[in-house]
Amino acid sequence: MSDSIKTIGVLTSGGDSPGMNAVVRAVVRRGLSKGLNVKGIRRGYLGLIGEEIVDMEARSVSNVMQHGGTILETERCPEFELSEIQDKAIEICKKNGIDALVIAGGDGSFKGAQKLAHKGMNVIGIPCTIDGDISCSDYTIGFDTAVNTAMRAIDNIRDTASSHEKCSMIEVMGRNAGYIALWCGIANGAESVVIPETYDYNEVKIMKTIAKHRENGKKNNIIINAEGVGDTSKMAKRIQAISGIHVRATILSYIQRGGTPTCRDRVYASVMGAKAVDLLCEGKSNRIVAYKNGNFVDYDVDEALSMKGGMTEGLKYMYEILEDLSV
Ligand code: ADP
Ligand code: F6P
Repeated sequence: MSDSIKTIGVLTSGGDSPGMNAVVRAVVRRGLSKGLNVKGIRRGYLGLIGEEIVDMEARSVSNVMQHGGTILETERCPEFELSEIQDKAIEICKKNGIDALVIAGGDGSFKGAQKLAHKGMNVIGIPCTIDGDISCSDYTIGFDTAVNTAMRAIDNIRDTASSHEKCSMIEVMGRNAGYIALWCGIANGAESVVIPETYDYNEVKIMKTIAKHRENGKKNNIIINAEGVGDTSKMAKRIQAISGIHVRATILSYIQRGGTPTCRDRVYASVMGAKAVDLLCEGKSNRIVAYKNGNFVDYDVDEALSMKGGMTEGLKYMYEILEDLSV
């Protein structure tokens, strides 16, 4: 057990993701069980520099795991990119006796963590984002809930699209990544999935796909757009104008980011939260907790952030089979 860490701070940063509450709960309770003090920092890095810090007890995290969002709240904090603001954050940690920070967030939050680490702060990152786009980890907390919520919403849209023989173009989240779109594409039997990793901005191709499916006897079509490819409403209007087929756009937006976390998200969040504390107790810091090849592992923050994401062989294969399966 490391002697240098007596008090840890936990914060949630960037876009909220279902499962963040289970992370906070695990950090608090594992920390307390190891004899540490745990402080909760409200509203991410913004709350840290505003010194919004509260003591956490075992009861502070009762009945939170089943809720989406984050009890600590989260914020974007663009000024955290400034060196002097990072210095201020470290000063505030010192003033409050915080020896290490556990940061639950996405790749942006990890860049902030990396800056703090380079300035001597002890940090551990936990991958929490619905986007699924943390390269060092095969899993990000929130993804499972988000894809299941989006899948159910798209099922509902399919019901009405098939009753009216319509084409539906549905936009899912994911920032610059197409993982949510790809997974829903397969789970919902979409005729087409448009993702930033592969899209060539050829709308004629999309129209040809719709036409091919109509020729094959399909009376409705589901096209799933990842938000990173552009404005779905405008795209739907253009395709409708040229093809003459009624194309209705639906933007799922925050519907897929909120909601009750799935079992998988709660379990991974609990394990990763506890592991963050364990790493600190072993004297390790500046690590990103990850799930890789069936194991819970950790990487140095610089190594983790230098890993490349994008289309793996597995994703390429998923993309390749998608259209065949929906014929
Ligand atoms: P996510 O963590 O979900 O990817 P963001 O990209 O919005 O979300 O990042 C969350 C926060 O992390 C930002 O609002 C900012 O405070 C911090 N952050 C992002 N990029 C950097 C950076 N390059 N340097 C320092 N802090 C950063
Ligand atoms: O990173 C999570 C996410 O929901 C992305 O999918 C999306 O691009 C972004 O956050 C939206 O952020 P905001 O709620 O700040 O518009």
